[in-house]
Amino acid sequence: MAGRRKLRVGVLFGGRSGEHEISLRSALTVISAIDRARYDVVPIGISRDGRWYLETDALKMLGAAAPRLAALKRTGIAVSLLPYPDHRALVAPANGRAAVRGGLDVIFPVLHGTFGEDGTVQGLLDLAGIPYVGAGVLGSAIGMDKDVQKRLLREAGLPVVRYMAITDADYRDDPAAARRQAARLGWPVFVKPNALGSSIGVTRVTGPRGLARAIEEALRYDRKVLVEAACEGRELECAVLGNQRPAASVVGEIVVRGAHRFYSYESKYVDEHGAAIEIPARLPARAANRIRALAIRAFTALELRGMARVDFLAKPDLREIYVSEVNTIPGFTAISMYPKLWEASGLPLKGLLDRLIALALEDHRARSRLKFTYQPRL
Ligand SMILES: Nc1ncnc2c1ncn2[C@@H]1O[C@H](COP(=O)(O)OP(=O)(O)O)[C@@H](O)[C@H]1O
Ligand SMILES: [Mg+2]
Repeated sequence: MAGRRKLRVGVLFGGRSGEHEISLRSALTVISAIDRARYDVVPIGISRDGRWYLETDALKMLGAAAPRLAALKRTGIAVSLLPYPDHRALVAPANGRAAVRGGLDVIFPVLHGTFGEDGTVQGLLDLAGIPYVGAGVLGSAIGMDKDVQKRLLREAGLPVVRYMAITDADYRDDPAAARRQAARLGWPVFVKPNALGSSIGVTRVTGPRGLARAIEEALRYDRKVLVEAACEGRELECAVLGNQRPAASVVGEIVVRGAHRFYSYESKYVDEHGAAIEIPARLPARAANRIRALAIRAFTALELRGMARVDFLAKPDLREIYVSEVNTIPGFTAISMYPKLWEASGLPLKGLLDRLIALALEDHRARSRLKFTYQPRL
């Protein structure tokens, strides 16, 4: 690398979603592990109310951990488009001088959930012409929408659980009919908001009596809710990395502990002993290989790129294995599944970050070569 200037990597974190905190923790891990010999890190923090902060101000958001990061060199550059929610506008930072397009070579959005993992930020970065890590607008939006995701997976011949979608309008028009139809799935069912995360608003329902409350709870978070037939036994996860020729990691398992009936918000984030990660999952080679192959097919079917964690539900005897959902910006905390799976597959975090950045640049280069206007021959 001698003689070549370092790449300026914007690390985007925080954000308006319920996963703000997790994002901060993920960003810390990314910023701490990234190879400083190759990259200059430009921290960009998004507050809970949607304001964007750069560098020192952004680091303050990382709170107690910020002193450790004081070693980050001030780069004195800014990104060109900063959203100003007060003005419902995108404007350049106050000292217009710094608002240079291309000030960043690449952005790593370490944002989970709404307004970060759902294609919105990806669209902004496309408009700004800045390459970024992970799925584009379409893949991110699909990754966030469980109903659309399942339809595409099914269309590609991939196994998904039986389920039905209910909109707020359906439910208002005829709640009893919606419940009757849902009951045909058998018990238990899982009721969930269509496009959220962190198990927020998810209820396990064991009979008709609990259904109305569960649907109404999920409808508080989304205008569409899913009722899914349960597939209980094992929760398996596989990490995918690449663009058009993606690779799959070893398979990991989430083992829910204690009194938790499923991988709920409490078992994920509140109860320290609510769940454990097992890598590699104890599986016969055949099942592991099937999961890896399904993960790659799902990645392609859902128009993803860069990275994704593909989650599976399986019966204890592994005769039924379903693709459950994908996460296009998986957790990157020190204990998160995605980096752990790659580490166990022989790619430690520093190298993984290198690879993700290279994939972002590669994809951006390929897309930049495309024409998007046509000169008709007269
Ligand atoms: N159909 C299902 N069968 C069994 N468990 C499920 C099902 N759907 C969800 N769950 C449980 O609920 C958790 C959260 O659901 P999930 O669809 O992964 O939503 P989120 O996007 O919030 O992670 C899962 O990790 C699993 O424990
Ligand atoms: Mg999940």
